[in-house]
Amino acid sequence: MFHHKYCNILKRTIVHSLNRKNHVKLSENLTKPIVLGIETSCDDTGCAIVDGTGNILGEALFSQNALHVRCGGINPLVAHELHRDNIDNVVNEALGNAGLKIKDVDAIAVTTKPGLLISLQVGVKYAKYLAKQYNKPLIPIHHMEAHALIPRMCKDIPFPFIVLLVSGGHCLLAVVNHIDDFVLLGQSIDNAPGEVLDKIARRMKLRNIPTYSTMAGGRAVELAAKGAKYPDLFKFPLPLARYRDCNFSFSGIKDYFVRKLVQMENEHGIMGNEIIPEYRDFCAALQLAVAEHLVHRTERALLFCEEEKLIDTSIKNIIVSGGVACNDFIFKSIEFIANKWNYKTIRLPPRLCTDNGIMIAWNGVEKYKKELDIVSDFNIKDIDPTAPLGRNYINNVQAANLPVKATKLHILYDT
Ligand code: KG4
Ligand code: ZN
Repeated sequence: MFHHKYCNILKRTIVHSLNRKNHVKLSENLTKPIVLGIETSCDDTGCAIVDGTGNILGEALFSQNALHVRCGGINPLVAHELHRDNIDNVVNEALGNAGLKIKDVDAIAVTTKPGLLISLQVGVKYAKYLAKQYNKPLIPIHHMEAHALIPRMCKDIPFPFIVLLVSGGHCLLAVVNHIDDFVLLGQSIDNAPGEVLDKIARRMKLRNIPTYSTMAGGRAVELAAKGAKYPDLFKFPLPLARYRDCNFSFSGIKDYFVRKLVQMENEHGIMGNEIIPEYRDFCAALQLAVAEHLVHRTERALLFCEEEKLIDTSIKNIIVSGGVACNDFIFKSIEFIANKWNYKTIRLPPRLCTDNGIMIAWNGVEKYKKELDIVSDFNIKDIDPTAPLGRNYINNVQAANLPVKATKLHILYDT
């Protein structure tokens, strides 16, 4: 399925070894533009250098996740400090892997929105410094656009396509018409799914079990759910069931499961660091709740695109991206509903679903080729922690008033 991607990885390996031996020859073989991308919007300091055909020439990532898991969630000040401490090393490591110097790149792309303000500032400041020092153009990148477009680096995916972005900070459905043309169909009105999985995993004290101790909450829930005996032990209410739009709400799921957890802890007389014995069934039910809600809203988006003729009926693709897309059960659930509407469901390997510098560099490559957003400096408005994605069609979806029945997905646990 990701043939081209694996070709790229293979080429990347070759590029590295060739590079160390013969830098000049390699530079001649690379496809322009060569873009260096920097990502610091949340808790990952990432940098990558990607060429015009999507070869990853060099990459480095410093993930703060394990530390934040230990500290009970992301602390923006700690994230800022760690970005500041690591950015120089991460960029130099990526360049070192590529055997390139800043003077060899055509442009520097950097995430400017959305994200944590003081985290974004570290990447932007560093990119500005490099651009000034080496006289390189800058390309501002929207983090969610980069998540949506990265699959095009690995696979020939024509516009338009639908994207479901599910991460620790976001949840949205959009139609991608072009590199700079996004139509927002729905988004979360409260928490993001990854945020809820992280919070409940923490409240469950999953990190006290050594296997899960350094894992992102969502990943821990997925692994624990795999050992469930009764995955539909708990029944939960489907969020926003009466609202005929594509918006999401995860706060109800969070409150419901926290209440259930407290009740079970009381029943078992759980104290201190102990964990309820049914934690695997509990995780499976939580994952099922998240999946059924995502599927219910996604099906309405597919129906809306059908009615409004927003997607070419001969090439129907839905991309699932963002950290929560790493979840096999959630992916299978989206695939299940997408199949019903003759869509092909696409996701990348986990390494490219979660935050990384590669998606920033690739978005820079696509923009550079189309001569979009190439600037010599940013102004203060370019950094926007709450920037929305694309043109807002949420009211149009509501006005279409399309009924969609809930799909029960527990059967997918047996497949
Ligand atoms: O896209 P990402 O790396 O950062 C944001 O922009 O938020 O996503 C991180 C989120 C975290 O909440 C993490 O728990 C979740 O993705 N995540 C998962 C899985 N792996 C990471 N959620 C569910 N299942 C997984 N396997
Ligand atoms: Zn992200």
